[in-house]
Amino acid sequence: MIYIGNDHGGLELKNEVLQYIKNDLKLDITDMGCYDNSSVDYPDYAEAVCAKVLENKATGILICGTGIGISIAANKINGIRCALCHESYSAEMTKRHNDANVLALGGRVTGPELAKSIVKAFLISEFEGGRHQKRVEKITKLEK
Ligand code: RB5
Repeated sequence: MIYIGNDHGGLELKNEVLQYIKNDLKLDITDMGCYDNSSVDYPDYAEAVCAKVLENKATGILICGTGIGISIAANKINGIRCALCHESYSAEMTKRHNDANVLALGGRVTGPELAKSIVKAFLISEFEGGRHQKRVEKITKLEK
């Protein structure tokens, strides 16, 4: 399962990405809001999506205007490794090397077609383990 959340700055891109994941990738996704243009606080959506990610060992996608605030908020939560990506190479590598469980995008930064390629790269890539395992474990230690 994939959980997606956004603030007002990420609403338009969220709607594009949501349709792409449902209709083109044919994957299950739950939209945790927000659902309209009213001004909201991105940490609330980071918190809601990340709780689902941790509870269900799932994948999250978070979108705010720049992707920065929502990724900072997400990375405060133990067990969350959130990567803000602007191109698909980083999206692939953050899965393969960092075992990222949440992808962040900037709705006012990244256009819909580029965002779709980033999302696809993130969703189809897998953690490689091996030498990267102990590095991820060291990140987890920093949470303590
Ligand atoms: C909201 O205006 C904006 O600050 C937010 O979407 C995000 O860009 C914060 O990092």
